[in-house]
Amino acid sequence: MPPKRTTGGSTAAQATDSTPQQRLDVIAEAVSRCVRCQELADTRTQTVFGVGNPEARIMFVGEAPGADEDRQGEPFVGRAGQLLNKIIEACKLQRSDIYIANILKCRPPGNRNPSDTEAANCREYLDAQIRIVSPEYIVCWGSIAAKNLLNSDETIGKMRGKFYEYGQAKVLCTYHPSYLLRNPAAKKPVWEDMQFLFKDMGIDLV
Ligand code: URA
Repeated sequence: MPPKRTTGGSTAAQATDSTPQQRLDVIAEAVSRCVRCQELADTRTQTVFGVGNPEARIMFVGEAPGADEDRQGEPFVGRAGQLLNKIIEACKLQRSDIYIANILKCRPPGNRNPSDTEAANCREYLDAQIRIVSPEYIVCWGSIAAKNLLNSDETIGKMRGKFYEYGQAKVLCTYHPSYLLRNPAAKKPVWEDMQFLFKDMGIDLV
């Protein structure tokens, strides 16, 4: 993948000696001690911060860790993650090319949906990740990610196929890999969304 375009300028916050990875590590350490959502802090095995290229052009945002992620401490490592890996490979990328995070850094018990309060409590951490990685593109996987990042109540069916903006990033919303596992027919629109994204990046996915 061609390297990220830079604007040439740097804000005061960026003008430090620390690398993006070091800055992410500082936030990850704070997250690992977070008890803002008491129920989640009481039931998690560990927090699941994020993984991947700290200077990625593309950032993926999912919903929240599931049981596998809670056990392993990494986003998207269960069945949905395996499907996400296949999508990444089909885009001729590797997981390590992308930065991957979730709306919530803790597993909601029983994999229930994150509450609005939990998402609000965790937002500072996601926003810090977005600020540090500074991706050109963000992909929201599923309606929980789209709703929370963009403050929208639209369905993915309505939101997909176009770009939204979040800060400097172009945001694309598409179906969650877990939804694809239950509804394989939705793989086609997801592939169209990937083609749309990569065309905008100047890369033709055939
Ligand atoms: N689903 C998500 O949204 N995120 C994960 O990390 C795993 C499954």
